[in-house]
Amino acid sequence: MFSFFQKKNKVSDIEWLGIDIHSHLLPGIDDGAKTMEDSLKYIHRLQELGFSKLICTPHIYSDIYPNTPETILPVLQSVQQQVKSAGITVELGAAAEYMAQSDFVAAEGLLTLSGNYILIEMSYLVETPNIEQIIFDLQVKGYQVILAHPERYNFYHKLPERYQRLKDSGCLMQMNLLSVLGYYGKSVQIIAENLLQKNFYDLAGTDLHHDRHLASLSSAVTDGTLYKKIGDYGFRNKEIFG
Ligand SMILES: [Fe+2]
Repeated sequence: MFSFFQKKNKVSDIEWLGIDIHSHLLPGIDDGAKTMEDSLKYIHRLQELGFSKLICTPHIYSDIYPNTPETILPVLQSVQQQVKSAGITVELGAAAEYMAQSDFVAAEGLLTLSGNYILIEMSYLVETPNIEQIIFDLQVKGYQVILAHPERYNFYHKLPERYQRLKDSGCLMQMNLLSVLGYYGKSVQIIAENLLQKNFYDLAGTDLHHDRHLASLSSAVTDGTLYKKIGDYGFRNKEIFG
């Protein structure tokens, strides 16, 4: 029954999503935030926009960003300390965004968002030929696989059946918020909108790397554009990671 006191979603913040599960906010370890100052600025602003929890997911990509828990977790700790000293109350965690290239090994002890949820991505240029095998191997190891930004893989744009096969493999799908804002171009936006219509996505993330991402996200949140586009979609971020 409708209650006068029922909390309604606000159109000009992002509390309706509440938790970011994909971001590059840890300084100096990938192509995201460069300095501690950047990190604190991004984290503070994301909290102001309405996030209560941010999971940082630095790239782990052996050729370019050979991160490991040993390079990621101490940086997380320093940022957490700085965040606390700055009086920022947002909860901050870290996992990784694993590049699922063809020689990827589904090992034990990979960094997970929480529980057994692992975030993977592919190159934007070419499909990983054995992507389904990699997903299967991870599942056999007990991971729940989340595929980052499927709408950004241009090689799938004319192959809707490939999207469906990956979905049918039991992979959860994470959309980038900036995709529906046209940040990555019209074709990515159209695919994201099509996939939203098909109820394809489970989760959403900022995939925030730098100032330009923050500026686009910030204006679309505060002027209500983002809420209007996807505020009622029903992303499961809070349900799974809250
Ligand atoms: Fe990312």
